[in-house]
Amino acid sequence: MKFTRGLEWGFLSVCVMGFFFMNPVAPAGAAEMPTAEALKVGSNIPPGVVASMHELLGPYLVLKAAASDNITFGFGNHSICSQIIPPLELAALGPEGYIVRGDVARGLVCANGNPLDDFSQFSIGAAFAAYDVLQRMGFSFLHPLGHTVPQQLDCASLLSANNSTAPHFRFRAFHYHTEHPLEMVDVLQGADAELPEGEGRVPWSAMVPEVQSWFTWLIANRQNRAEWVLLTTPEWSKNGFVDSELRAHRLRSLTDMGRTFGLLVGADVPIIEIQQHGWYMAKGSDKADVQAADIRTRVDWLVQRAGFDYLATESGYTEFEHPKADVMLRLMNDLADYAMKAHRVHVYIKCHCSAGQQCPGYPDPRDPSRAIDFNQLPTLASKNMGVMAHTVQAYALDDPTAGAYGNTNYGDMLDWMLWEAANDTREVVYHPETNYWVNVDIDVPLFLPLYGERRLHDLHLLAERERHLQLPPGRISGVDYFDSGWEWGSWLSDVVAAGAAWDPISKYSDRTAAFRAAMSPLARALGGSVGERVTAAVAGLAMAQGQLLIDGAAGSFLPDADEIKELSGFAYLSGRDAWSDLLHDIGVATTQVQKVNFYDHKNRLYKHVAPLLSSMNASFTPFVNELHEAARLHSPKASTHPLLQDLLDAADMLLLRVRFTATLYEASAPTTTSAERDAALALARQYISIASKTVARRMEASRVQPSSRIYGWRPNPTSYTFGYVWTVKSLYYFWRDYGMVERGSLEARVGPCYLNMQKGTDVVFGGGVYVSEALRKILRDVPFVGKLVGDCIAPPSQEYQFPRDLYK
Ligand SMILES: *[C@@H]1O[C@H](CO)[C@@H](O)[C@H](O)[C@H]1NC(C)=O
Ligand SMILES: *[C@@H]1O[C@H](CO)[C@@H](O)[C@H](O)[C@H]1NC(C)=O
Ligand SMILES: *[C@@H]1O[C@H](CO)[C@@H](O)[C@H](O)[C@H]1NC(C)=O
Ligand SMILES: *[C@@H]1O[C@H](CO)[C@@H](O)[C@H](O)[C@H]1NC(C)=O
Ligand SMILES: *[C@@H]1O[C@H](CO)[C@@H](O)[C@H](O)[C@H]1NC(C)=O
Ligand SMILES: *[C@@H]1O[C@H](CO)[C@@H](O)[C@H](O)[C@H]1NC(C)=O
Repeated sequence: MKFTRGLEWGFLSVCVMGFFFMNPVAPAGAAEMPTAEALKVGSNIPPGVVASMHELLGPYLVLKAAASDNITFGFGNHSICSQIIPPLELAALGPEGYIVRGDVARGLVCANGNPLDDFSQFSIGAAFAAYDVLQRMGFSFLHPLGHTVPQQLDCASLLSANNSTAPHFRFRAFHYHTEHPLEMVDVLQGADAELPEGEGRVPWSAMVPEVQSWFTWLIANRQNRAEWVLLTTPEWSKNGFVDSELRAHRLRSLTDMGRTFGLLVGADVPIIEIQQHGWYMAKGSDKADVQAADIRTRVDWLVQRAGFDYLATESGYTEFEHPKADVMLRLMNDLADYAMKAHRVHVYIKCHCSAGQQCPGYPDPRDPSRAIDFNQLPTLASKNMGVMAHTVQAYALDDPTAGAYGNTNYGDMLDWMLWEAANDTREVVYHPETNYWVNVDIDVPLFLPLYGERRLHDLHLLAERERHLQLPPGRISGVDYFDSGWEWGSWLSDVVAAGAAWDPISKYSDRTAAFRAAMSPLARALGGSVGERVTAAVAGLAMAQGQLLIDGAAGSFLPDADEIKELSGFAYLSGRDAWSDLLHDIGVATTQVQKVNFYDHKNRLYKHVAPLLSSMNASFTPFVNELHEAARLHSPKASTHPLLQDLLDAADMLLLRVRFTATLYEASAPTTTSAERDAALALARQYISIASKTVARRMEASRVQPSSRIYGWRPNPTSYTFGYVWTVKSLYYFWRDYGMVERGSLEARVGPCYLNMQKGTDVVFGGGVYVSEALRKILRDVPFVGKLVGDCIAPPSQEYQFPRDLYK
């Protein structure tokens, strides 16, 4: 097929493509419209990929080709490519490896790759190769809900391409965490989306294209698995939707669609965990045979009816509570052995990093003199149970974690993972995050390219340890990224993390260079010097974030291992909600790093807070300015411009958050006069007002429309009563901090449950049945706390309005 260049393509847009596909009346020049044969597509390419290629390339092929640009493209194992890509050379690359190679003399460009294994009907490597070519032509796949298109295809440079590549890790997954009210939370449950009051519903089928876009993104970013959490709600249990024919049918159509892209599709279903509306398998009876039967029924449903290819699961009741070790082990084995024997389906269990839950009577094989930690109990389970070592938030495996989840670092998680890889035979998957969500990052919002950079660092570190320990290749299967949404530039971390799973090693001379190389899809999409400057500024910002947010290194002051618990930058930029304050106050489950509070003037570390915030401001500002400078050179007409605007807005919000927080500490400082305090509070309000304009612009530009699906206060299948960025729309974290400094009401002064917005009993304690021992004790013994906790247990039935509700 002939591809044209050098003509005027400025009118092309996604809408025009849609026109070609939805309008069967052929436009002028229809004789030039591509067909499957004309594209020279081999039969090993997954059909979803073929359709997507036609859709992407179609609009470029309707005009007459210029005779001088006469290039034929052979995708997959089409026979015209057997000489350019000899089958033996390709096979030598191993599973999923691929080659992109041009031949100037023949005017031919070929792209083909290997399947995942001998059982694959189609070749996922050929799909990767095809998207590699599309990206070199100028398409980009950066945001999972929408690709960008070039003004004109760049084909000529492909004639000199000669690249072979194969993945380092064979398990490359994204776990889209639908226990959070994310973009696709409804469609992935097989449900319609209910909008905020008065706005109606979005039918399930209208959202299916978003899933398709995500699958496309996964393949374009060379992942091979898509996974999400299946939920239940009280309503679905009552009306039967939860395991209905309708739901099975809808889920089946999604898993089928994933397979047409070459993906494996996984369902995350807890065995017995009851936190956050998980659709747990064992439903209440404590009789072993009933539980085993429940598990078998559910596995059959998931595999046979809904068509999932693999299963992920959770241990314990919640992140912080668990049943007896013997019960948990039996349940794990029932699940993993049945899924394998009955369906040849693999199961992976998430192992949390919450600290301090031992299993007496169960020696730890790593050190038999001590009892095994409950989170690592799967070490003693059937070998059919793969393990997923779960770390949280941005911290890398060798970073100080400032006390998040009771850890000082994830060293033990790393050692355990390596021990499993070296001394056990089960599958080992690393399960870190590209967003944590609750209070910490995307919902503030904070622009944190640091996340992607730390994941690249992690995988590089794992690859180095594998080599150092001389582990057999593939003993660490790979990585499953916990992903909690894509707004506010967060997609960039996902792109970087995805690339790291394919190749964590080459180009890793130093941190900055490696991270910049990992952002090459962004540099290429933006093009030329803009691409270079933007990725350089983002890399600089991420490095500065590492020093300040993780290490708390402000100027010449570096906090020690104890001081860091209250002096990491994250502590000050993250938001606080009623539950994080309450759980901290009563000493249960500190999920979030701690800070020196506004009025904690007697704290010996108080004097370090203002300098830390001022260092963040001084250090981040030049990079954000440089982003704006570089962006001025970018054409507003380019299809990548909205992505650049997204990065700019996100970076602006980061700076606003830094300056806002610094200003609140100024307002509340012991030496501040009341005139200075008033001025500082007025400035803080100005920051809020600027922030709300940026937020309004982003909501309008969101790829999720109506944006109230994610920014609104609305019912959804999770245990939260709002979309995952409602806290951004309302600027909840800004207002709550402001209210606590201004102290306009009694609750603002004393109540940890000030402005509670979560159904805490559902979210943390799984429906209020298994309220943790510690909390129960406190509720009983300390009436004063008990009263304040009342606010936490019952969140408002209506959306908060700020600033009005600061004073209620
Ligand atoms: C291409 O691959 C498909 C699927 O693996 C196979 O059926 C077909 O025979 C192959 N075609 C050629 C030309 O090798
Ligand atoms: C373009 O390709 C066709 C088919 O390979 C060939 O017949 C024709 O001569 C080529 N034209 C030019 C200008 O290279
Ligand atoms: C392409 O690379 C392969 C090795 O990967 C090499 O054998 C071959 O000669 C190269 N071809 C060209 C045209 O450079
Ligand atoms: C492809 O190979 C060329 C030549 O070896 C190299 O310069 C280029 O960076 C490679 N491209 C990719 C995407 O790996
Ligand atoms: C595997 O077990 C041996 C014997 O207990 C131990 O010395 C070694 O450190 C373990 N390997 C890893 C990577 O933990
Ligand atoms: C942050 O830095 C900017 C520019 O350097 C400065 O104008 C502003 O006053 C600083 N703000 C705070 C709160 O430190």
